[in-house]
Amino acid sequence: MREIRVGLLGAGVVGSEVAHVLLERSDKLSEQVGATVALQRIVVKDASKKRPSFIPTELLSTNPDDVVSNPDVDIVVELIGGEHPPLELMTKAISNGKHVVTANKEVMAKSGYRLLSLAAQRGVDLRYEASVGAGIPILSPLQQDLAANEIASIRAIVNGTTNYILSKMAREDMDYQTALRQAQELGYAESDPTNDIEGIDAAYKLSILASLAFHTPVKPSDIFTQGISTLHPKDFTYARELGYAVKLLAIAKRHDDGIEARVHPAMVSLNSQLANVDGVFNAIQIEGDLVGPLVFFGRGAGALPTTSTVVADVLTIARNIAAGSLIRPRIELNRRIDVKPMSKVETSYYLRIAVKDQPGVLAEIARVLGDHAISISSVIQKELNADAQTAIIVIMTHPALEASMQAATAKLSSLTIMNEVSALIRVED
Ligand code: HSE
Repeated sequence: MREIRVGLLGAGVVGSEVAHVLLERSDKLSEQVGATVALQRIVVKDASKKRPSFIPTELLSTNPDDVVSNPDVDIVVELIGGEHPPLELMTKAISNGKHVVTANKEVMAKSGYRLLSLAAQRGVDLRYEASVGAGIPILSPLQQDLAANEIASIRAIVNGTTNYILSKMAREDMDYQTALRQAQELGYAESDPTNDIEGIDAAYKLSILASLAFHTPVKPSDIFTQGISTLHPKDFTYARELGYAVKLLAIAKRHDDGIEARVHPAMVSLNSQLANVDGVFNAIQIEGDLVGPLVFFGRGAGALPTTSTVVADVLTIARNIAAGSLIRPRIELNRRIDVKPMSKVETSYYLRIAVKDQPGVLAEIARVLGDHAISISSVIQKELNADAQTAIIVIMTHPALEASMQAATAKLSSLTIMNEVSALIRVED
């Protein structure tokens, strides 16, 4: 049997597990491929570090060239994470004619277009299924099974850490810090959890999804991004009373005049599928013009689900090598469609304000919203602090332009009857 050799960059939580599966299931995997799939080398930062006993020390090296420039390596698996040096190492590996598998969303979001073009030039495959949704197959379906469709929209929960935190806060009244600590202990969070909390990780994933769905490069910097760190527990309670859950959503929609792409906390109906995605689970809802709505659901973070996908990508490439052909879908990112600025996006809103409790206040608020062409769908007075003579008002609106809502809240903040605009959460119906 022909031998197909794999070089691994990185033996952290995911890298070790990938090595484990490649070594332990070697016979079964080789049988599936019709060639021997052999783990050739594992590049690590510190070879003396204590590692699980299943990692053979003789495979370890601290020199990335032992993988990316090694003539004996056919497939490079990059699991170091972060932008540098993975970008440089993947570029070198592809330039050296090696197939690459990666779970690196940051590199694929920021430089995927360039790397895919280079891979096409060099006639090698670059697979990155694990970069979005860990264990959920979503990029292959977008490239292959849904290829006949025009994709109209993506609505997704693609960050396990924030979904875990939001679920704990909503269902168990756990405070934010405790929930974050638990997510970190469970290995869901990035090494710097700011990327999770501030929506950056989700924006990378949306960039990858939207680029494939709409066949145009959607850069992370094109995506309006807002995280969960400013959410207040009160809004979870009010949302629930109004029939909504609060989720960090990644949303991309195709319009005649461009694409909208945004990541932010959003209220979704308690009856919707997305509202019921809890904990580390991710869900990606896609609407195709032929297929209609589809939901992909599964574990979106963690070593084992990521390993499941990374090894599958290795096997796909190995099968192609064994068959002597490179059957890979052409990744066409050749349309040029503009991403609309957030100010031009239309959505409904939940607005929580604290106002002076006196006659004429509601009329004044309604006038400001009306002046900005914002139509109110309901108003509820939630609490009254008689001593401070303030009232908390929750307003739900019909769809309105983001620019109008921003201008209206700025105007509301300047009114003497206003104590504060306490929360503004977009509603995704
Ligand atoms: N930090 C990521 C998450 C891991 O929480 O979803 C998977 O990309």
